Amino acid sequence: MKKSNYYDYIAQIYDQTRWLRKSVAEEVADFILELTCATPETSFLEPGVGTGLNVIPLVKRGYPVTGIDVSQEMLDQFRQKLNVTPVNLNLIHGDASQLAFPDNSFDVVLTVHMIHTVSDWRVFLDNIDRVLKSKGFYLNCQWITPPARREFEGYFRDIGIRFDL
Ligand SMILES: C[S@@+](CC[C@H](N)C(=O)[O-])C[C@H]1O[C@@H](n2cnc3c(N)ncnc32)[C@H](O)[C@@H]1O
Repeated sequence: MKKSNYYDYIAQIYDQTRWLRKSVAEEVADFILELTCATPETSFLEPGVGTGLNVIPLVKRGYPVTGIDVSQEMLDQFRQKLNVTPVNLNLIHGDASQLAFPDNSFDVVLTVHMIHTVSDWRVFLDNIDRVLKSKGFYLNCQWITPPARREFEGYFRDIGIRFDL
């Protein structure tokens, strides 16, 4: 298979570079479900889903999960962790910069260590806002240092959205 980006090359060792052990991932999933007051119908989108470290616990618990990734190799690693692709999981190979979903599609959008990879993060966040349902949650996990951090917080302030650390 043609390797076209950095993550295609490192996909096989990617999980070894992360701190997120299975037990911690389960605890993170518990936290997300409690924070978002999830019901069995709560739908999740993770752009830049990678090998599925963050969402596999949600998939296994039956929540509808959509993951997008530009790296086919990362998605292959994700699929290899599951015996079969469950019906509640939709994996899309593509660029998440433009989210090709109708408005108000998801209850929760999650980005973890990926926002620095999109060409224009403001346009990306606008798109996340568009595909989120009106009472939806956007959860981002990323190490952002000043001055980028101030700009990032300013984006949420400007559109009147509560920004919690
Ligand atoms: C640092 S990894 C994070 C993976 C996963 N979110 C995690 O926390 O383990 C960044 C991921 O984003 C993907 N990615 C980067 N830019 C992307 C884009 N424009 N559209 C979709 N996926 C992208 C990469 O292929 C990679 O899988």
